[in-house]
Amino acid sequence: MKFHIHTYGCQMNVRDSEAVEALMLAAGHERAAGEADADVVIVNSCTVRQKAEEKAVGKAGNLIAAKKVTGLMGCAVKRLGADVFKLLPKLDFAVGPRRFGLIPHLIDRVVNGGEHGLLEVGDDEVPTGIDAHSGLARAGAPFQSYVTVLLGCDNRCSYCIVPDVRGHEFSRPAREVIAEVRSLAEHGVTEVCLLGQSVLRYGVRNAAWDAGEPNPGGFNEAFPRLLRSLDEIPGLRRIRFTSAHPSGCTDELVRAYLECPKVCRHLHLPVQSGSDRILADMGRRYTREQYLAAVRRLRELDPEFALTTDVIVGYPGETEEDFEATRSLMEEAGFDNAFVFKYSPRPGTRAARLPDDVPVAEKERRDQVLLADQELRGQRRNERLVGTVREVLCEGPSKRNRARLSGRDGGNRIVVWKAAGSPPPVGTPVLVRVTEAHPQILVGEAI
Ligand code: 5AD
Ligand code: SF4
Repeated sequence: MKFHIHTYGCQMNVRDSEAVEALMLAAGHERAAGEADADVVIVNSCTVRQKAEEKAVGKAGNLIAAKKVTGLMGCAVKRLGADVFKLLPKLDFAVGPRRFGLIPHLIDRVVNGGEHGLLEVGDDEVPTGIDAHSGLARAGAPFQSYVTVLLGCDNRCSYCIVPDVRGHEFSRPAREVIAEVRSLAEHGVTEVCLLGQSVLRYGVRNAAWDAGEPNPGGFNEAFPRLLRSLDEIPGLRRIRFTSAHPSGCTDELVRAYLECPKVCRHLHLPVQSGSDRILADMGRRYTREQYLAAVRRLRELDPEFALTTDVIVGYPGETEEDFEATRSLMEEAGFDNAFVFKYSPRPGTRAARLPDDVPVAEKERRDQVLLADQELRGQRRNERLVGTVREVLCEGPSKRNRARLSGRDGGNRIVVWKAAGSPPPVGTPVLVRVTEAHPQILVGEAI
């Protein structure tokens, strides 16, 4: 049958959708040209904020009547459990984040067994035969691939539902990760992005180590050691990873950045707030000063080191003073890009027991203020790069202007340049001299 997957949420979900795609192809199904053309539609959902969940559930609801099979997967399914069928009574199947390996089997039960309303939300990982994924071309950018290194999360930040829906933290064994990246590189992938809710915690928990095998080197070393092993893989050009916690910005990590030429000098380091009082309430386990110390460390290593972040505005009890602290922290850190989120209470989290007392209009105002600050800061940060030469991996024509090519530099900055002649194949490294800076992109010419 022809299938289509609609993905909401973060890179983890993108990666999970890719794995499902590989499993569906292996089970003999084929990709539909688009949603309209599909017999089977799978919606991969997010639940990090209420709006995100509503979007995914709404999408599945709109499709149900028109499709032979409709399924919902991902984080919202885990949060809703059996209630998902109250919202979507005609849904054929629903699977939580660690159970998507069962999808082809569930489709078979729906199509050949006439069943519906199937629910899979257990906590055990269903093996997916990760090899099915290796060499799978990412639509549009076959030279890039996500690789999950850390599943779940045990941080328990007060506002966050992720530990409830993605389960306990678990590190995949290094040999498995290395084998996967090696295989991807053999299939032409030159850029990998290692995924985990808090990747620098890699190696703190994994099955073999829990069973008593010594953890080689401990927390401070496991991730840098993994980076060193991956850096040696032939054919690979770039290694990225996301997301990070400032406590992981250790000497060992700095050394790995310096020693491993393939490791990109970009880090997504969510700060959430610049107020010590709010950070403590959130359970973030760092102060403003500790966060800024991590930033300084990375910028000392390389002044061009690109830093991006996530910020929440309107957390319960956030005063004007707390908000101004966030503003000034963002300025001190000099972020290259920032994602701002309006606080949304998630059922069952610690923060959801506090009054959601910042009015919607005030959350909106704070959001706009931070975005306006970031526009100016992004422009200023990018102006420093005018005249420099960036190595960019070509991703093809720019979406906004087809006469231009687009790609990203090592700092994950979007770079566009004028196309001359036939465009180079996707993934080709191009040297671009920057001639113009904008808040979100660099414009230049190929040299
Ligand atoms: N409300 C608003 N934003 C949230 N995030 C996580 N939980 C919430 C919530 N309850 C944001 C954080 C996180 C990003 C992925 O989503 O900033 O880093
Ligand atoms: Fe990703 Fe969190 Fe959304 Fe799940 S709930 S898709 S982990 S952002």
